[in-house]
Amino acid sequence: MIDIHSHILPGIDDGAADWADSLMLARAAVAEGITDIIATPHHYDRKYKNDAEQVLALVTELNDRLNKQEIPLMVHAGQEIHIHEELLAHLDEGNLLSLANTSYMLLEMPHSRMPNVMEHIVYELCLAGIKPIIAHPERNAEVLKHPERLAGLIELGAYAQVTSHSLLGGFGREIERTSWELCRHGLIHFIASDAHHLSWRGFRMREAFEKTEEVLGASTAAAYARNAELLLHNKEVGMTAIRQSERRLKGWSSFRALFRK
Ligand SMILES: [Fe+2]
Repeated sequence: MIDIHSHILPGIDDGAADWADSLMLARAAVAEGITDIIATPHHYDRKYKNDAEQVLALVTELNDRLNKQEIPLMVHAGQEIHIHEELLAHLDEGNLLSLANTSYMLLEMPHSRMPNVMEHIVYELCLAGIKPIIAHPERNAEVLKHPERLAGLIELGAYAQVTSHSLLGGFGREIERTSWELCRHGLIHFIASDAHHLSWRGFRMREAFEKTEEVLGASTAAAYARNAELLLHNKEVGMTAIRQSERRLKGWSSFRALFRK
Protein backbone atom coordinates (compact mmCIF):
# COMPACT_ATOMS: atom_id res chain seq x y z
CA MET A 1 0.00 0.00 0.00
CA ILE A 2 1.15 3.53 -0.77
CA ASP A 3 0.36 6.58 1.32
CA ILE A 4 0.68 9.86 -0.61
CA HIS A 5 0.10 12.32 2.27
CA SER A 6 1.86 12.26 5.65
CA HIS A 7 3.64 14.42 8.19
CA ILE A 8 6.35 11.91 9.06
CA LEU A 9 9.37 14.23 8.90
CA PRO A 10 10.59 15.34 12.33
CA GLY A 11 10.33 18.79 13.87
CA ILE A 12 9.25 20.84 10.86
CA ASP A 13 5.48 21.08 11.22
CA ASP A 14 2.65 19.80 13.43
CA GLY A 15 3.46 16.16 12.62
CA ALA A 16 6.31 14.08 14.07
CA ALA A 17 8.10 16.14 16.70
CA ASP A 18 11.44 14.28 16.58
CA TRP A 19 13.22 11.26 15.10
CA ALA A 20 11.64 8.94 17.69
CA ASP A 21 8.17 10.04 16.51
CA SER A 22 9.15 9.62 12.86
CA LEU A 23 10.39 6.07 13.46
CA MET A 24 7.28 5.26 15.50
CA LEU A 25 5.10 6.43 12.58
CA ALA A 26 7.26 4.44 10.15
CA ARG A 27 6.84 1.23 12.15
CA ALA A 28 3.08 1.80 12.33
CA ALA A 29 2.97 2.39 8.57
CA VAL A 30 4.73 -0.93 7.93
CA ALA A 31 2.32 -2.69 10.31
CA GLU A 32 -0.56 -1.34 8.16
CA GLY A 33 1.01 -2.78 5.01
CA ILE A 34 2.39 0.52 3.70
CA THR A 35 5.56 0.09 1.63
CA ASP A 36 6.00 3.65 0.33
CA ILE A 37 5.05 6.90 1.96
CA ILE A 38 5.28 10.45 0.67
CA ALA A 39 6.39 12.98 3.28
CA THR A 40 4.30 16.10 2.75
CA PRO A 41 5.14 18.70 5.41
CA HIS A 42 3.06 21.87 5.42
CA HIS A 43 4.54 24.54 3.21
CA TYR A 44 3.62 28.20 3.18
CA ASP A 45 0.65 28.07 5.47
CA ARG A 46 0.58 30.68 8.25
CA LYS A 47 2.91 28.71 10.51
CA TYR A 48 5.27 26.60 8.44
CA LYS A 49 7.63 27.14 5.56
CA ASN A 50 9.51 24.05 4.49
CA ASP A 51 11.64 24.68 1.44
CA ALA A 52 12.46 21.92 -1.02
CA GLU A 53 16.11 21.66 0.02
CA GLN A 54 15.28 21.11 3.71
CA VAL A 55 12.61 18.51 2.92
CA LEU A 56 14.93 16.58 0.59
CA ALA A 57 17.71 16.50 3.22
CA LEU A 58 15.34 15.18 5.91
CA VAL A 59 13.92 12.52 3.59
CA THR A 60 17.46 11.27 2.85
CA GLU A 61 18.27 11.13 6.55
CA LEU A 62 15.00 9.37 7.42
CA ASN A 63 15.61 6.73 4.74
CA ASP A 64 19.14 6.20 6.15
CA ARG A 65 17.73 5.73 9.64
CA LEU A 66 15.05 3.33 8.36
CA ASN A 67 17.73 1.27 6.59
CA LYS A 68 19.85 1.10 9.72
CA GLN A 69 16.87 0.01 11.81
CA GLU A 70 15.80 -2.43 9.08
CA ILE A 71 12.34 -0.89 8.80
CA PRO A 72 11.08 -1.77 5.29
CA LEU A 73 9.57 1.56 4.29
CA MET A 74 10.62 3.91 1.49
CA VAL A 75 10.04 7.61 2.12
CA HIS A 76 9.61 9.98 -0.82
CA ALA A 77 9.72 13.77 -0.75
CA GLY A 78 6.80 16.13 -1.20
CA GLN A 79 5.09 19.14 0.29
CA GLU A 80 1.52 20.02 1.23
CA ILE A 81 1.51 23.42 -0.41
CA HIS A 82 -0.90 25.94 1.06
CA ILE A 83 -2.68 28.03 -1.57
CA HIS A 84 -1.15 31.50 -1.65
CA GLU A 85 -0.93 34.34 -4.12
CA GLU A 86 2.74 33.73 -4.96
CA LEU A 87 2.36 29.99 -5.56
CA LEU A 88 2.85 30.21 -9.33
CA ALA A 89 5.88 32.50 -8.92
CA HIS A 90 7.39 30.02 -6.45
CA LEU A 91 6.83 27.22 -8.96
CA ASP A 92 8.73 29.22 -11.61
CA GLU A 93 11.54 29.79 -9.13
CA GLY A 94 11.81 26.02 -8.51
CA ASN A 95 10.93 26.27 -4.81
CA LEU A 96 8.07 23.78 -4.84
CA LEU A 97 8.29 20.00 -4.60
CA SER A 98 5.98 17.71 -6.48
CA LEU A 99 5.05 14.34 -4.97
CA ALA A 100 7.91 11.82 -5.21
CA ASN A 101 9.47 13.73 -8.11
CA THR A 102 6.43 13.10 -10.33
CA SER A 103 4.20 15.65 -12.03
CA TYR A 104 1.61 15.39 -9.20
CA MET A 105 1.57 18.17 -6.58
CA LEU A 106 -0.40 18.31 -3.30
CA LEU A 107 -2.30 21.55 -2.60
CA GLU A 108 -4.03 22.58 0.61
CA MET A 109 -6.89 25.09 0.77
CA PRO A 110 -7.80 26.90 3.97
CA HIS A 111 -10.46 24.92 5.88
CA SER A 112 -12.92 27.81 6.01
CA ARG A 113 -13.21 28.73 2.31
CA MET A 114 -12.13 28.08 -1.24
CA PRO A 115 -9.84 30.92 -2.33
CA ASN A 116 -10.95 32.83 -5.44
CA VAL A 117 -7.61 32.08 -7.06
CA MET A 118 -8.20 28.31 -6.99
CA GLU A 119 -9.50 27.95 -10.53
CA HIS A 120 -6.72 30.17 -11.86
CA ILE A 121 -4.02 28.24 -9.98
CA VAL A 122 -5.36 24.84 -11.07
CA TYR A 123 -5.61 26.03 -14.68
CA GLU A 124 -2.08 27.46 -14.73
CA LEU A 125 -0.56 24.40 -13.01
CA CYS A 126 -2.20 22.10 -15.57
CA LEU A 127 -0.84 24.28 -18.39
CA ALA A 128 2.61 23.93 -16.83
CA GLY A 129 2.26 20.12 -16.88
CA ILE A 130 1.60 19.82 -13.14
CA LYS A 131 -1.23 17.61 -11.90
CA PRO A 132 -2.64 19.35 -8.82
CA ILE A 133 -4.19 17.19 -6.10
CA ILE A 134 -6.55 18.93 -3.68
CA ALA A 135 -5.85 17.60 -0.17
CA HIS A 136 -8.89 16.59 1.91
CA PRO A 137 -11.60 18.70 0.15
CA GLU A 138 -14.16 17.03 2.44
CA ARG A 139 -12.83 19.16 5.30
CA ASN A 140 -13.32 22.44 3.45
CA ALA A 141 -16.37 24.42 4.63
CA GLU A 142 -17.17 25.67 1.13
CA VAL A 143 -16.99 22.19 -0.44
CA LEU A 144 -19.36 20.94 2.28
CA LYS A 145 -21.91 23.55 1.17
CA HIS A 146 -21.09 23.74 -2.55
CA PRO A 147 -19.55 20.46 -3.73
CA GLU A 148 -19.99 21.63 -7.32
CA ARG A 149 -17.07 24.00 -6.73
CA LEU A 150 -14.82 20.97 -6.22
CA ALA A 151 -16.36 19.38 -9.33
CA GLY A 152 -15.37 22.55 -11.21
CA LEU A 153 -11.73 22.14 -10.15
CA ILE A 154 -11.78 18.47 -11.18
CA GLU A 155 -13.18 19.46 -14.58
CA LEU A 156 -10.28 21.87 -14.96
CA GLY A 157 -7.85 18.97 -14.43
CA ALA A 158 -7.37 18.75 -10.66
CA TYR A 159 -7.50 15.54 -8.61
CA ALA A 160 -8.66 15.12 -5.02
CA GLN A 161 -7.53 13.10 -2.00
CA VAL A 162 -9.83 12.08 0.82
CA THR A 163 -8.40 11.38 4.28
CA SER A 164 -8.79 7.92 5.85
CA HIS A 165 -9.98 9.47 9.13
CA SER A 166 -12.71 11.44 7.33
CA LEU A 167 -14.13 8.24 5.79
CA LEU A 168 -14.13 6.63 9.24
CA GLY A 169 -15.94 9.49 11.01
CA GLY A 170 -12.86 10.89 12.78
CA PHE A 171 -13.86 14.46 11.88
CA GLY A 172 -17.58 14.08 12.59
CA ARG A 173 -20.69 12.86 10.81
CA GLU A 174 -21.04 15.69 8.27
CA ILE A 175 -17.48 15.26 6.98
CA GLU A 176 -17.91 11.47 6.95
CA ARG A 177 -21.13 11.71 4.91
CA THR A 178 -19.61 14.26 2.51
CA SER A 179 -16.51 12.08 2.04
CA TRP A 180 -18.59 9.14 0.81
CA GLU A 181 -20.75 11.34 -1.41
CA LEU A 182 -17.67 12.86 -3.05
CA CYS A 183 -16.34 9.32 -3.63
CA ARG A 184 -19.67 8.17 -5.07
CA HIS A 185 -19.67 11.08 -7.50
CA GLY A 186 -16.23 10.30 -8.86
CA LEU A 187 -14.69 13.42 -7.31
CA ILE A 188 -12.07 11.55 -5.27
CA HIS A 189 -9.00 9.90 -6.79
CA PHE A 190 -6.88 8.97 -3.77
CA ILE A 191 -7.23 7.81 -0.17
CA ALA A 192 -4.37 8.89 2.10
CA SER A 193 -3.75 9.09 5.83
CA ASP A 194 -2.52 12.66 6.40
CA ALA A 195 -0.89 10.98 9.44
CA HIS A 196 0.53 13.43 11.98
CA HIS A 197 1.20 11.53 15.17
CA LEU A 198 0.38 8.03 16.35
CA SER A 199 -1.29 9.19 19.53
CA TRP A 200 -3.74 11.61 17.93
CA ARG A 201 -3.83 11.04 14.18
CA GLY A 202 -2.22 7.89 12.87
CA PHE A 203 -2.83 6.00 9.61
CA ARG A 204 -6.10 4.00 9.70
CA MET A 205 -5.46 3.19 6.03
CA ARG A 206 -6.27 -0.51 6.22
CA GLU A 207 -9.53 0.27 8.02
CA ALA A 208 -10.42 2.95 5.47
CA PHE A 209 -9.79 0.59 2.55
CA GLU A 210 -11.83 -2.15 4.23
CA LYS A 211 -14.71 0.26 4.68
CA THR A 212 -14.36 1.46 1.08
CA GLU A 213 -14.68 -2.15 -0.08
CA GLU A 214 -17.79 -2.51 2.05
CA VAL A 215 -19.43 0.77 0.97
CA LEU A 216 -18.28 1.22 -2.64
CA GLY A 217 -17.20 -2.30 -3.63
CA ALA A 218 -13.92 -4.12 -4.03
CA SER A 219 -13.16 -2.81 -7.53
CA THR A 220 -13.47 0.82 -6.42
CA ALA A 221 -11.25 0.24 -3.37
CA ALA A 222 -8.71 -1.47 -5.62
CA ALA A 223 -8.86 1.46 -8.05
CA TYR A 224 -7.98 3.91 -5.26
CA ALA A 225 -5.03 1.73 -4.20
CA ARG A 226 -3.91 1.39 -7.81
CA ASN A 227 -4.10 5.16 -8.34
CA ALA A 228 -1.51 5.72 -5.62
CA GLU A 229 0.76 3.20 -7.39
CA LEU A 230 0.22 4.89 -10.74
CA LEU A 231 1.07 8.25 -9.16
CA LEU A 232 4.32 6.89 -7.76
CA HIS A 233 5.27 5.78 -11.28
CA ASN A 234 4.20 9.16 -12.65
CA LYS A 235 1.46 7.60 -14.73
CA GLU A 236 -2.03 8.92 -15.36
CA VAL A 237 -4.42 7.68 -12.70
CA GLY A 238 -7.28 5.44 -13.77
CA MET A 239 -10.87 6.41 -13.06
CA THR A 240 -12.85 3.66 -14.78
CA ALA A 241 -13.59 1.57 -11.71
CA ILE A 242 -14.22 4.68 -9.63
CA ARG A 243 -16.66 6.12 -12.15
CA GLN A 244 -18.57 2.84 -12.25
CA SER A 245 -19.63 3.56 -8.70
CA GLU A 246 -20.74 7.05 -9.63
CA ARG A 247 -24.45 7.77 -9.35
CA ARG A 248 -26.09 9.23 -12.39
CA LEU A 249 -26.37 12.96 -11.87
CA LYS A 250 -29.54 14.71 -12.92
CA GLY A 251 -28.05 18.17 -12.46
CA TRP A 252 -26.37 20.21 -9.82
CA SER A 253 -29.52 20.78 -7.78
CA SER A 254 -30.06 17.06 -7.16
CA PHE A 255 -26.33 16.63 -6.57
CA ARG A 256 -26.35 19.36 -3.93
CA ALA A 257 -29.54 18.01 -2.38
CA LEU A 258 -27.62 14.82 -1.53
CA PHE A 259 -25.42 16.87 0.78
CA ARG A 260 -28.36 18.37 2.67
CA LYS A 261 -29.73 15.03 3.91
FE1 LIG B 1 -1.59 17.23 5.74
